[in-house]
Amino acid sequence: MITEHLTTSREDIEKAAEIIAAGGLVAFPTETVYGLGADALNEKAVASVYEAKGRPSDNPMIVHIAKREDLEKLTPDRDPRIDKIADSIWPGPLTIVVNKRPEIPGRTTGGLDTVAVRMPDSETALQLIEMAGCPIAAPSANLSGSPSPTRARDVAADMDGRIDAIIYGGDCRVGIESTVLDLTGAKATILRPGYITADALEEILGEDVEYDRALKGDPANEADFKPRSPGMKYKHYAPKAEMIVIKGRREDVADEIERRKKIAEEEGKKVGVIQFGEEAFAEAAHDFFSRLRDLDAQGVDLILAGALSDEDGVGFAVMNRMLKSAGYNVIRV
Ligand code: TXA
Ligand code: MG
Repeated sequence: MITEHLTTSREDIEKAAEIIAAGGLVAFPTETVYGLGADALNEKAVASVYEAKGRPSDNPMIVHIAKREDLEKLTPDRDPRIDKIADSIWPGPLTIVVNKRPEIPGRTTGGLDTVAVRMPDSETALQLIEMAGCPIAAPSANLSGSPSPTRARDVAADMDGRIDAIIYGGDCRVGIESTVLDLTGAKATILRPGYITADALEEILGEDVEYDRALKGDPANEADFKPRSPGMKYKHYAPKAEMIVIKGRREDVADEIERRKKIAEEEGKKVGVIQFGEEAFAEAAHDFFSRLRDLDAQGVDLILAGALSDEDGVGFAVMNRMLKSAGYNVIRV
C-alpha cells in the first residue's frame, strides 16, 4: 500500500475525511499524540486499525468527536459529571468512559458495554471529524508496543505502507496520551493518568476522584492487579534498547547514572540518558516519547532514565509511561 502524505490544508483534510468515510485509515495529529483514525461505526474499518497496528483485538479504542451533541449519539448516559467535563475541559486531553449505545460495534469497544470518548483540542482533528461525518475511532498511531508518536515523522516510521494517509501536522503539544476517566460507577476513577490530573478533576467535579488500583500498586507486584483498562496489560512504549529507571534523591540519581554509564561504555555499549529538570513535568511529558524514539534511532544499547517525582500529577503520568517503557526495571538509590 502507498501511504499518501497530506498537509493540514482544508483540501487535504477533506481528502483525508473522504478516505475515512470510505472505510480507510488516516493518521492525524491531536494535542496529545498522533491518532490512527477510522470510522468508529464501521466494523471492517475498525478491524483494519487493529491489523495495521498489530494490536490484540480485545483492546478498546477511544472514539473522537467534534461537537458536544455527538456524545449523545454514543451514550444514553445523562450525568452532570459529563456536563462539567465537557464545559471545562473539552476540547482537551481527557477521555471519559461511559455506557455505549448498541449502534457502536463491539469491535470498537473491544467487546465492552462501555465506550471511551474524547474531543481533541486540535483544529485539524476537529475539522477531520466534522468533515468525515462520523465519530473517529483512533488509538495512538504507533505499532503496538512501541512508543506513542508525537511527531509526524514518528508516525511515518511505523505506519508508512500500512495505512492510506498521514496528515503532517506539527509536533503534539502535550506529548502523552489523554487521561482516561471512568464515569460508569459512583466514583469517578482514573484508568490512565495524563496531563489532566486527579486534583484538577476533583476541582471541576467537586467530588473525590480515585486512581484505579492497578495504577497505584507497587510495580514489583504488578501481576497482583487486574487492570480495568485493558490497554494497561500489554507491553507498552518499549524502546528497542534495554532501559533502566533510576529512582532516588536527585544528586544520587545523577551519580548513579554517571556510574552506570561509565561501566556500560567501558563494556563497549552505546548509552543514552534521559533526565529532566526537577520541576519540568510538562516538558518531560512533551519530550519523553520522542526522546525514546531518537535514542532508538541513534542505535543506543542502554537507556538510563532518571525518575521524576510522582507526587506531581503530571510527573505521575510520565512515570506511568517511563516504568512501562523500562518493563518495570527500576533501581532505587
Ligand atoms: O490521547 C489519546 O487518548 C490518544 C489520541 C490519539 O487521542 N489515543 C490513545 O488511544 O491513546 P489508545 O488506543 O492508545 O489508548 C486507549 C486507552 C487504552 O488504555 C484503553 O484500554 C482505554 O483507553 N480504553 C478504551 N476504551 C475503554 C473502555 N471502554 N473502558 C476502559 N478503558 C478503555
Ligand atoms: Mg497507545
